[in-house]
Amino acid sequence: MKTVQATASGKIILFGEHAVVYGRPAIAVPVSKVRARAVLQGGDPGSGFRIKAPDLERDYLLAEAQTDDPLSTMIEITLRYLGQSHAPDGVLTVSSTIPLGRGMGSGTAVSTAIVRVLGQWFEKSLSPLEVSNLVFEVEKLYHGTPSGIDNTVVSFEQPVYFSKGEPIRRLGVNESFTVVIGDTGRVASTREVVRDLRERWQLDRERYEGYFDEIGVISRQAKVIIEHGLPGTAALGKLMNENQDVLETLGVSSPTLKQLIGAARTAGASGAKLSGAGWGGNMIALVPSQTDVIARVTTALKRAGATEVIVTEVESVSATKD
Ligand code: PMV
Repeated sequence: MKTVQATASGKIILFGEHAVVYGRPAIAVPVSKVRARAVLQGGDPGSGFRIKAPDLERDYLLAEAQTDDPLSTMIEITLRYLGQSHAPDGVLTVSSTIPLGRGMGSGTAVSTAIVRVLGQWFEKSLSPLEVSNLVFEVEKLYHGTPSGIDNTVVSFEQPVYFSKGEPIRRLGVNESFTVVIGDTGRVASTREVVRDLRERWQLDRERYEGYFDEIGVISRQAKVIIEHGLPGTAALGKLMNENQDVLETLGVSSPTLKQLIGAARTAGASGAKLSGAGWGGNMIALVPSQTDVIARVTTALKRAGATEVIVTEVESVSATKD
């Protein structure tokens, strides 16, 4: 039986979450060691297209899927784009090692892997931009007002400097640096946090636009350091701390996030902040690339209550890969 498979990485936002929804720039990087996987195995003629997601204990036929099911929506959108009127007979199995609902792009990665696997099945080579645009269609349906940063960084699997509505800019990384990700263990709904902030913005636009401007300035400064400077050093960490201060003012942090952020800083991180929507999910710490400091920060995060700690290296890369 014909079998094809595809994967997609997780991601973290280094700078600019929330402000990016309001047009300010943000920086995100892939986390390649955690991935979603989609395997499509051909089936007997007439057997239909079955979707299996063992992690979620789900197993159903595409033809019988609920209309609000994100996986089947992604499949339908992709089939239409590929000019296919029918799904093939077969079984699509999706799985992921990306923590669910913690701002690491698990849903985006699953969608991306599905688009890629269907492209492979029909032997159509889809560019990262085509994949990104297709995934964005689903993000818009399920996440309210997404900026588009998640689908961009996951589809291109390269650091991006992202501004809504502008052409995608890959971000060069002058020198590799280490980020430690600490999981609060609390699932937060991006849609809810974004909606809550929007309500506050509507009541006092001038004040909130000012906060978003501050974050925009931080993202621009961070871009210069990452592209041309020494990202592993104190200057970038200081910007992370400043970004966190504004996120706290915006009301998207949480006591647990603050606790993990404080623990990382005390243990030797150059800077730390929440990553993604907030209220739960993950925090990130910029950590000097020395084994003992990484170990110290990891231990401190676990002691402070992190349910999972992932150490990731943001590799040095030119802005014009490909
Ligand atoms: O999906 P998350 O939790 O990484 O959050 C996305 C980042 C936001 O800026 C809060 C929303 C968006 O669409 O950019």
